[in-house]
Amino acid sequence: MKEKSKRGNFTSSFGFVLAAAGSAIGLGNLWKFPYIAGESGGGVFMVFYLVFILILGVPFIMSETAIGRKTQLSTIGAYRSINPKWTFAGIIGVVCAFFILSYYSVVGGWILKYITVFFTSGHTTAAAPGYFASFTANPVEPVVWHLVFMAFCTVVVLFGVEKGIEKGSKIMLPALFVLIVIVAVRSLTLGGNAMEGVKFLFIPDFSQLDSPAKVANVAVQAMGQVFFSLSIGMGISITYGSYLKKDSNLVKNSFIIGGLDTLVALLAGLAIMPAVFAFGFEPAAGPSLIFETLPAVFDSMPLGNLFAVIFFILVFFAAATSAIALLEVVSSFFIDSLGWKRSVATISTASVMALIGVFASLSFGPLKDATLFGMGFFDFLSYLTDKILMPLGALAMCLFVGYSWKPKSAAEELAIGRGGFRAVGLYSALMRFVAPALVIIIFVAGLINK
Ligand code: PFF
Repeated sequence: MKEKSKRGNFTSSFGFVLAAAGSAIGLGNLWKFPYIAGESGGGVFMVFYLVFILILGVPFIMSETAIGRKTQLSTIGAYRSINPKWTFAGIIGVVCAFFILSYYSVVGGWILKYITVFFTSGHTTAAAPGYFASFTANPVEPVVWHLVFMAFCTVVVLFGVEKGIEKGSKIMLPALFVLIVIVAVRSLTLGGNAMEGVKFLFIPDFSQLDSPAKVANVAVQAMGQVFFSLSIGMGISITYGSYLKKDSNLVKNSFIIGGLDTLVALLAGLAIMPAVFAFGFEPAAGPSLIFETLPAVFDSMPLGNLFAVIFFILVFFAAATSAIALLEVVSSFFIDSLGWKRSVATISTASVMALIGVFASLSFGPLKDATLFGMGFFDFLSYLTDKILMPLGALAMCLFVGYSWKPKSAAEELAIGRGGFRAVGLYSALMRFVAPALVIIIFVAGLINK
């Protein structure tokens, strides 16, 4: 009941779509997607990615928003109110969000650092070879920026998220969209081998998939990225769905959110890959792609410094709105379920996440050789969330809908606000059989493939 009294409503479906897209569109699209596509074979990865968006991403957003709007409760309360035995599904989500933000904030800090570099010493500094590696290896500076990023998100959550996210999304998302198109056009017209980048992204080379292990590996990467990019398995859409009025069309909104998120990811790929090829960089460069290649793109542009500042500011806002949603999910658990005060819950959870993030940041420098399961700490957090917790949260969610709440009940909720929902059979088959089977196969493959 306590949770119910705090419910607000989005003023319109449009407000909801923007807020949900704001949570979905973040570093996952602008930073992770291009480099993971680059590492996982470009076009082949893209095929898996688009298929998973359609058969897993969109139905999962539909299901989560249906659970939220039906129960009018945030994640854990929502599961608990339908079937208390499934409370654990909500808990997995909260734990996952907790670990994601720990390392997400480190990257948020890198973005802040780049904004200041572009402001002060110009793009050429950041474009210099080795700049990124030496910055991230520094034991102090990236840690400080990570703490600044986390502090910023904490302040916003303390002051109330809904207005911040909604208002911010309305300005930032269209602006980000326009700017990323500009950068993509610039990247595509760099000449030289730029078009090779487009081919690399969009023309799948199936000859790369010459062993089942390779197929599984690309599929695992693609599915983890779909979950991450759409913020699936953590109940973000349950919470946002709980703010929705009965007249909004959940099915249509889910397609729009999935579509917008995919569009921004593709634009990020188009902004980066042609430039990677034009400048002769390595498409499989990994996490440094956006921090080394983009500065080089800006370096070659008229008014590059200005574009760089604006672009990184927008990446910062995209990252911040996602981070704020993550922080809200974690702290609202302590507020809703343990009755903590918002200030205490937010500051204490953010502090613990910040501390874990410090170790993630140091794993690029002083703690480079300290490994957990053969990975540096940053990579370990990313692996734990992408490959283990998110699939587990998603598996719990589809089994919950498929076998506890039942697809028929979900379909009844989905029918509201759109005059019916005819694809009950398809939806039911997806939630009961296809999605759990895929998630399990790929989850196990992910463990074996590590
Ligand atoms: N979807 C966000 C991104 O693509 O950057 C990251 C994220 C936000 C994941 C919120 C999970 C989440 F709950």
